[in-house]
Amino acid sequence: MLVSALGLGTVKLGRDQGVKYPDDFTIPDDREAAALLAQARELGINLIDTAPAYDKSEQRLGSLLKDQRSDWLICSKVGEEFCDGQSQFDFSPEHTRTSIERSLKRLRTDYIDMVLVHSDGNDMDIINQRGTLQTLEEIKQRGLIRAFGMSTKTVAGGIAAAAASDMVMLTYNLAYRDEVAVLDECARLGKGALIKKALASGHLARDYEDPVQASMDLIFSHPGTSSAIIGTITPKHLEANVLAARNSLEVR
Ligand SMILES: NC(=O)c1ccc[n+]([C@@H]2O[C@H](COP(=O)([O-])OP(=O)(O)OC[C@H]3O[C@@H](n4cnc5c(N)ncnc54)[C@H](OP(=O)(O)O)[C@@H]3O)[C@@H](O)[C@H]2O)c1
Repeated sequence: MLVSALGLGTVKLGRDQGVKYPDDFTIPDDREAAALLAQARELGINLIDTAPAYDKSEQRLGSLLKDQRSDWLICSKVGEEFCDGQSQFDFSPEHTRTSIERSLKRLRTDYIDMVLVHSDGNDMDIINQRGTLQTLEEIKQRGLIRAFGMSTKTVAGGIAAAAASDMVMLTYNLAYRDEVAVLDECARLGKGALIKKALASGHLARDYEDPVQASMDLIFSHPGTSSAIIGTITPKHLEANVLAARNSLEVR
């Protein structure tokens, strides 16, 4: 299965503490979350992004997707935990293995399509010193995950992760384009590139007439983009985002 141009980010399905969205929100209940997932599938989205650090997100997806596992590509992460309102990090091989076993149970599945290292910002240290990517490679060989990579926070880290793994998740939006070199490298090497914070986590640029369309135009004009993971719990936004992505892809 190929990834859809848009993926659904699920921070807001699991966590409402320690997030930097412009507006307060209420975590959707099960009925609302199921309707959002059904709408996403109807609109052609097949990629869903989660993480242990998104608190209840994985657990909820396990229950919500239990009869439709094969319809989705699931991306989860290792390395960051959210405990008592605080982020904690552990990139060790032992924690990586334990975390994936736990994600498999929470997601009620026997494989995860993609697993990314959830960087704390020290990308190069994680890549060169912690053995996390090597552990993910071993786990991939065992068939528990199908692809792996890293969600990076630096240009050097993104470029190094592209060389050392299958894919990179990077930030790219109208207000922050520093990591375009990572996208260039993913395109050059033929590696996957997932865009996070494509809409600047909701802090939309005011100097564009249609900031959502302008964001999609930016992201999909780059040949390196595999998919943009948009975090939304608002059905109208989900629909508008898919329409805007389609417009951008039509002119590409
Ligand atoms: N790996 C990492 O380190 C990392 C870090 C951050 C994010 N991520 C992943 O990337 C996903 C996306 O990142 P993000 O949620 O921070 O940022 P984002 O997708 O750029 O923005 C999400 C915010 O934009 C709002 N929004 C969405 N569509 C909109 C529209 N059409 N018009 C106006 N507002 C709109 C959403 O509100 P509504 O809910 O009301 O639509 C939400 O508050 C996350 O869910 C997560 O899966 C990963």
